[in-house]
Amino acid sequence: MVGNWITMEIARIAVLGAGQMGNGTTQVAALAGFSVTMIDIEQEYVDKGMSTIENSLGKLVGKERISQVDADAALSRINTTTERSYCSDADLVIEAIPEIPELKFSTFSELDEICKPEAILASNTSSISITELGKASGRPAQFIGMHFMNPVPLMELVEVIRGRETSDAACETVMELARDMGKTPVEANDFPGFVANRILMPMLNEACYALMEGVAEAEAIDTVMKLGMNHPMGPLALADYIGLGTCLSIMEVLHRGFENEKYLPCPLLREKVAAGHLGRKSGRGFYEYG
Ligand code: 3HC
Repeated sequence: MVGNWITMEIARIAVLGAGQMGNGTTQVAALAGFSVTMIDIEQEYVDKGMSTIENSLGKLVGKERISQVDADAALSRINTTTERSYCSDADLVIEAIPEIPELKFSTFSELDEICKPEAILASNTSSISITELGKASGRPAQFIGMHFMNPVPLMELVEVIRGRETSDAACETVMELARDMGKTPVEANDFPGFVANRILMPMLNEACYALMEGVAEAEAIDTVMKLGMNHPMGPLALADYIGLGTCLSIMEVLHRGFENEKYLPCPLLREKVAAGHLGRKSGRGFYEYG
């Protein structure tokens, strides 16, 4: 049985969630030649996701990174719906819904009912345990983490996270699929925050402390990291870009998961989230956006 999985052909992919991670994942999968169904709970979210994809493809064509023919072909491979039942013929479902644990757990138990038995279920969770989500899915051997980075069309990495019971075959299938999507997959084990967010988020959190304690202004902190460390964006601008609610919830997962005070979310980060200053998407975070 396990051997069969290695050669499993992934042709049809369903992406659950049309937000920034979901639409980006849909785009790269469609560009790589897969048939993709992008699903969200409201037509409005689906439409917004499609228009982001059209914009992004337009930029890539403008920069001659892809041709207009490739962009049109990618768009023709995308179907959209608000019905999860359309996951029934998918070989792989990639979940990219909001990072709310109860929502993810209930979604995966629902998907187990809908999806064909051999389908692989992948979560784009940034920090929730893959082993626990796999258990909720009822098919832990065919469950895996596929953590794309934002902005998905431009970032090369996919962190592939094995749960305790993920089969070698499912892992190999997903690693190969990520390569087919033009990404570089890196395998990690199931610890809070995996590798990417365990290292990135404490740095962003520390930048919040530096701002709160008056070490320097936001622009100065970001400039130090950009010019001093060659980071493409400063940590506060990056936190705004990711979304401050997401940053806070990942810090909380690290704090709870490791029971270590070094992961305590910065009070200024909590304050911003409580005030609804969530970063770029709300027009205000550490910076203001027009
Ligand atoms: N599709 C197509 N093109 C895009 C795009 C997209 N989604 N997003 C940006 N671009 C284009 C821009 O339009 C711009 O084109 P232009 O030169 O014609 O204006 C070009 O890419 C370069 O963008 P910018 O000039 O705005 O800025 P940069 O040169 O700094 O590049 C960046 C943008 C790639 C986002 C770069 O700043 C970067 O790498 N930043 C760090 C991103 C990062 O760390 N991501 C990981 C976040 S953590 C995560 O995702 C995990 C999660 O769990 C929290």
